[in-house]
Amino acid sequence: MIKKAVIPAAGWGTRFLPITKAVPKEMLPIIDKPALSYIIEEAVDSGIEEILIIISSNKGAIQSYFKYNLELEQFLKEKNKLDDIKLIRQTHHGAKIFYTTQEEQLGLGHAVLQAEKFINGEPFAVLLGDDVYVSEDKPALKQLIDAFNEKKSSILGTMEVSDEDTKLYGICMPKEDSSKPIVELKGVVEKPKSNPPSNSAISGRYVLTPKIFELLKNQTRGAGNEIQLTDSILRLMDSEKVYSFDMIGKRYDIGSKIGYLEAIIDFGLKREELKDGLMHILKSKTK
Ligand code: UTP
Repeated sequence: MIKKAVIPAAGWGTRFLPITKAVPKEMLPIIDKPALSYIIEEAVDSGIEEILIIISSNKGAIQSYFKYNLELEQFLKEKNKLDDIKLIRQTHHGAKIFYTTQEEQLGLGHAVLQAEKFINGEPFAVLLGDDVYVSEDKPALKQLIDAFNEKKSSILGTMEVSDEDTKLYGICMPKEDSSKPIVELKGVVEKPKSNPPSNSAISGRYVLTPKIFELLKNQTRGAGNEIQLTDSILRLMDSEKVYSFDMIGKRYDIGSKIGYLEAIIDFGLKREELKDGLMHILKSKTK
């Protein structure tokens, strides 16, 4: 049973400067909720009960969002806005939220390593703080957890990308005799410039065995001079099978400006009270 998840949210978010000087990119609003809130909702809907968010020293906004705000609650009570009280109390969606600080931004692998104590030797999930998934039936992470339960070995959530986009992602190298939907891997290549080994891109969701921590501890720096999670996953393949699984759903990379804009438009179009007004604006702009 996977009950614990880690959300690394300690990066600088340089693609979104200057706003990320003050607002963590995981807290950028998709209309009226931060991206992180959708990710936590997905985790809870996937059976996760305890979540460790990896933050840096300037990410206080994340903690404020999940804390009770009794002063605001009192104000809303006086105004008889009881539904709003419910709304601000449910920001954690029922999960227990914990925090730990990554003192130096040495990369995603280093961020995950900060979770070792919290994970305490169990398999666990990782959800990147800037990848939002929308799935019609089963949440993306639940799909991955179900696949993990079948194989009982580390598994990477993937999606198919175009040839053109393979250079933007960690790309999976499937074993020759492996077949879908749960694919055994023989390697992963970080952002291949040419000849990608497949079109299967690692995309923000993982279920990992705790063995990964041993490897992260002595992981040398890789691409971008950072301690890369992908590099330790590659070494994990020496001691256990690692799989990939294409998750069904729509992914929004809210760490990129265009992905963020798309998320706002799509979420707006799904909201009953906003969709007509938003559609009207979009139509008038595209005439
Ligand atoms: P990214 O590489 O997308 O995030 O890391 P970034 O470095 O913050 O953003 P850019 O590229 O400069 O715009 C993926 C996830 O890993 C976290 C980020 O917060 C993000 O959610 N991360 C990254 C850490 O927690 N610590 C790090 O040292 C690096």
